[in-house]
Amino acid sequence: MSKGVATPTDIFKKCYEFNRDLEITAAGLYPFFKVISGNHGNRVVIDGREVVMAGSNNYLGLTRHPKVVEAAIKATEKYGTSCSGSRYANGTYDLHVELEEKLAKWMGREKALCFTTGYLTNQGAISALGGRHDVIFSDKENHACIVDATRLSFGEVKRYAHGDMDDLERQLQETPEDSGRLIVTDGVFSMRGTIVNLPRMVELKKKYGARIYIDDAHGLGVLGKKGRGTGEHFNLHDDVDVVMGTFSKSFAGLGGFVCGEERVISWIKHKAQQLIFAAAMTPASTAAVLTVLELIQKEPSHLANLHKISTKVRDGFRAIGFDVPDGVTPILYTRVGEDVQAFQFWKDLLELGVYTNPVITPGVPVGWSGVRSSYMSIHTDADIDHVVNAFAKVGKKYGLI
Ligand SMILES: Cc1ncc(COP(=O)(O)O)c(C=O)c1O
Repeated sequence: MSKGVATPTDIFKKCYEFNRDLEITAAGLYPFFKVISGNHGNRVVIDGREVVMAGSNNYLGLTRHPKVVEAAIKATEKYGTSCSGSRYANGTYDLHVELEEKLAKWMGREKALCFTTGYLTNQGAISALGGRHDVIFSDKENHACIVDATRLSFGEVKRYAHGDMDDLERQLQETPEDSGRLIVTDGVFSMRGTIVNLPRMVELKKKYGARIYIDDAHGLGVLGKKGRGTGEHFNLHDDVDVVMGTFSKSFAGLGGFVCGEERVISWIKHKAQQLIFAAAMTPASTAAVLTVLELIQKEPSHLANLHKISTKVRDGFRAIGFDVPDGVTPILYTRVGEDVQAFQFWKDLLELGVYTNPVITPGVPVGWSGVRSSYMSIHTDADIDHVVNAFAKVGKKYGLI
């Protein structure tokens, strides 16, 4: 380096100093990127052993449904494995258009627009909607991709306390009268499975001239009579201005979509970089999702089973002494405490043949680390009994029940 010029810090310094993963691995507790070598739906193979999968978002259990698998195979045979380009350029296939038309019809909206993942959907739609003089109101426990999306938008971002509609109202009141207002929220909060207070939010939207954008990744296929999500659950379907969904959960594929008024969707379509500059959903995934959409409408038994299983597991957890909040979602959160305790809890469950997901900060507030378990319509009563027994044993060991 020339004299008088400070030596630059090695940009990799932080990487060399990061050793949390090594410490947790050395303690035999590293729980992430766990390798699954076989997937039978309700059970998966991990470390050469079959365990109950209680950590998947395949809520309707359709990833191995024969019609869904067949549709993916046929689409691959017909169109190949990749669209090899973005929707904007060379990657819009008739399958995408058919899916968008059917989704819009099912959701009772003028238009729908598909992206390559749910993550990109939020990034593209929210950043396109939040313009320079707009304000985005975002729940503090919204999914990470919403947080990223709001950072990308040119609008001002106000984060209100989780689920606190009074805080949201206060922030709406403090906003200049002429600025556009978008309230963005998860429909079902992904970590704890709680549902947004939509009735109050709709009141606020009307009082303060705002619009509501719901990320219903965990609500679609799960909530409401027809599985159309949080709006339908509260009989407020038409009061939600934009609904976003992902295909990686109940829809047994990979991708995401937004739906709403034609002009709004057209704006997003022509402004979202994440649509214009990312390759389109694969033919296999698009065809699989089309088939799931048909199954959701023609075979209500998948949703009915999911409700049965969710009720059974909630009742089971209550019976062994866990404090389970009222609710209907197939997601349960078990708070353990600090990160390392949560890892130990997770590992004990796995040793008893139950796979769950450990959740640590910043996914949850400090001291709230624990495990998230989630359930599917294809779980059997025996699976649920096995899970509840395992939680009873481990819960007692850690003094949680
Ligand atoms: C609430 C929520 N929104 C969006 C996403 C992103 O969806 P995808 O995994 O399809 O990219 C997720 C995925 O975990 C989610 O939980």
